[in-house]
Amino acid sequence: MKILIACEFSGIVRDAFIARGHDAVSCDLLPTEKPGPHIQGDVLDILDDGWDMMIAHPPCTYLSYAATRSWNDEGRCKKRLDALDFFRQIWESPIEKICVENPMGCASPTIVKYSQIIQPWFFGDPMYKTTCLWLRNLPLLIHIEHESLFEAPTHTDKPKPDYVCEKTANNVHGEEAMCGGNNRASVDSSGTPSRCCGTQRGLSGIDLF
Ligand SMILES: C[S@@+](CC[C@H](N)C(=O)[O-])C[C@H]1O[C@@H](n2cnc3c(N)ncnc32)[C@H](O)[C@@H]1O
Repeated sequence: MKILIACEFSGIVRDAFIARGHDAVSCDLLPTEKPGPHIQGDVLDILDDGWDMMIAHPPCTYLSYAATRSWNDEGRCKKRLDALDFFRQIWESPIEKICVENPMGCASPTIVKYSQIIQPWFFGDPMYKTTCLWLRNLPLLIHIEHESLFEAPTHTDKPKPDYVCEKTANNVHGEEAMCGGNNRASVDSSGTPSRCCGTQRGLSGIDLF
């Protein structure tokens, strides 16, 4: 599949899809941190370029409910509206399969309701960060709390309430679940889903096991 990883400079999700045989390219205003197929520029300029799937991480600075204490600051309304319009253009792009990832925020009540809420610890990363996925023509990610005869759990223990989530773009395992990977070892995450069970289908819809 020809896959666009929108708003990614780390190359992590891109490389996870490439490792599974896809033709994945990241795009960001910033240069890529890791050598690999990357378009540095405005992602809105390449949405029409014949992608089969897009995974998008649009900026959440002005959308997230984490920043509501600044909600009424001067100039904030315009920035919020601009961020919403960027999100809308991503969501409404002419790409058949879309996954947009963002924290809880005003995009859901304004643009379109999220498809799924996940936590990093649902997929093996011991972190707490409520993360929304907006999915078009893609399956929900499957996470399994308890072991059964047929399935191994994907969850780790829920982090303690005083857990502090360090900011990092290196969400090594978020892409594992998105790609249908089976990496059950936990490392770290910035909040997107991570490990998955042997029957997990990734967002590419390809059963890899
Ligand atoms: C929340 S960060 C996502 C980082 C991503 N998770 C990664 O691992 O690189 C949002 C990113 O969107 C990028 N961005 C903002 N506007 C953009 C645009 N018009 N076109 C492409 N990238 C954009 C920013 O440069 C920033 O890196």
